[in-house]
Amino acid sequence: MYLLCLFLLATVSADVVPSQPPVEPPLRYDMPPPPETARMSTRNVFQTFISMPLDHFNPQNSDTFMMRYMFNEQFFGGPGSPVFILVGGEWDIAAGWLLAGNMFEMARENHGYMVYTEHRYYGQTVPYTNFTTENLRFLNVDQALADLAYFIQNMKQSPQFADSKFILYGGSYAANMVLWFKQRYPHLVVGTVASSGPIKGEVDFTGYLEVVHDAFLAEGGEQCISTIRQGILDTVEALKTEEGRRELEQAYRLCSPLLDYDDVYELGYFSGLISWRFSGSVQSARPGVLQAICNNFAGNIYGTTPMQKIGGYIAQTAGLQTCWTIEYSILLGTYSNPRSNSRAWYYQTCTEYGYYQTAPRSGTVFDPLIWLSVDFYVDICKQVFSERFDKEFVYDAVERVNLIFGGLQPNVNNTINIHGTYDPWHALGVFEHDLKENSPTITVPRASHCFDMQGWLNTDTIRMTQTKQEARRIVASWLN
Ligand SMILES: *[C@@H]1O[C@H](CO)[C@@H](O)[C@H](O)[C@H]1NC(C)=O
Ligand SMILES: *[C@@H]1O[C@H](CO)[C@@H](O)[C@H](O)[C@H]1NC(C)=O
Repeated sequence: MYLLCLFLLATVSADVVPSQPPVEPPLRYDMPPPPETARMSTRNVFQTFISMPLDHFNPQNSDTFMMRYMFNEQFFGGPGSPVFILVGGEWDIAAGWLLAGNMFEMARENHGYMVYTEHRYYGQTVPYTNFTTENLRFLNVDQALADLAYFIQNMKQSPQFADSKFILYGGSYAANMVLWFKQRYPHLVVGTVASSGPIKGEVDFTGYLEVVHDAFLAEGGEQCISTIRQGILDTVEALKTEEGRRELEQAYRLCSPLLDYDDVYELGYFSGLISWRFSGSVQSARPGVLQAICNNFAGNIYGTTPMQKIGGYIAQTAGLQTCWTIEYSILLGTYSNPRSNSRAWYYQTCTEYGYYQTAPRSGTVFDPLIWLSVDFYVDICKQVFSERFDKEFVYDAVERVNLIFGGLQPNVNNTINIHGTYDPWHALGVFEHDLKENSPTITVPRASHCFDMQGWLNTDTIRMTQTKQEARRIVASWLN
């Protein structure tokens, strides 16, 4: 073991302390702005704050907090012209989303005013600076939807917007939000665009990794799948012997051996190192990317043995600089940080959605990673929030959300419901039929998470381009 450590330090890096950020499950989405905006001037985008009631459901509580939002009025046609609101979710809002993308095109075509709102407890919209479990009690979607209602009502009181029609656009969790908003506050908005919304909460979300498996099978064929399958089977086998463990530590570029090869949580985190990378590749896949990964497996680019191929793929696609520190306590530390988007979102998974990407039991390549269990993900709830947040608590919490919003049977008008078949989240959305006559579903083959929110990309398939145009056409029809 001593020799191996020397070997890793000597060959991997000259850094004194490796500082690779911890690997996190793809529970939280960061909504990257359209890439072409990275070098654009932001002079048309302004940022400000609005005072917001902390508790919309208790008139006796008059506390407030400052909610951040951004706006761009470059296309605004004056009183009566529409307002487009991009709804923020579990991330920091960024100016880029008001400089390009499909909502930007809608605003351009309809002389719209553009707004981007930040969700409470994320980015700079923080009612408390210390996210203790107690202080997180005002973090839930009911309050966040009421923030939006209050925000829109506030805008409508200005003569500029008194006669404006409001459109909401949201992706990922924010897609749930816009759909649920239209359902709950139909009088405030004429329509919404919901991109990749996992509108049904689910604790044991095996469907996620099933889609990841299916996407690699469809793009890389049986050969690719059998390489991944063998690599994962060899890994699970290697966990059982001392010799195997040393091979595994090298193949996966671990800084040190796992602390305890018999601990289900250490094994859960190690399993996540594997599955969460495949998840990331599929969730963000552009056409051609998965095929390229499979070609690299076949061409021994990542390594020679199946296990080395998996380890090399993870290191290379994640941009590993030094080596991985896979310790469960470090994962817990990420969520114990008193104020972070990661902690706030993990809290919402424990108290509202679950969404835990567990090992499937249906013959996928990920089935052997049995430590990716509900127990593993719920243990994080217990460790970082409260002992009370046990399995029963989380199941009840998710059932409550499905009850109040209708799960896969929402009753909502004028909502465009968009999904991609390579987006693992579509498994928790309605993707096979329209929600209603006036709430169409558009499901696009080979498309990934929130693909339609971007502007035109030269890697778009014809269907992707058509879908963005279709969304713009329907939105324009609501405004006329
Ligand atoms: C946050 O609150 C916790 C619990 O009361 C406390 O232990 C911790 O020191 C606080 N952290 C900060 C940064 O204030
Ligand atoms: C949806 O629209 C139909 C037709 O205009 C209307 O009858 C119905 O009440 C609406 N449903 C909801 C939930 O707003």
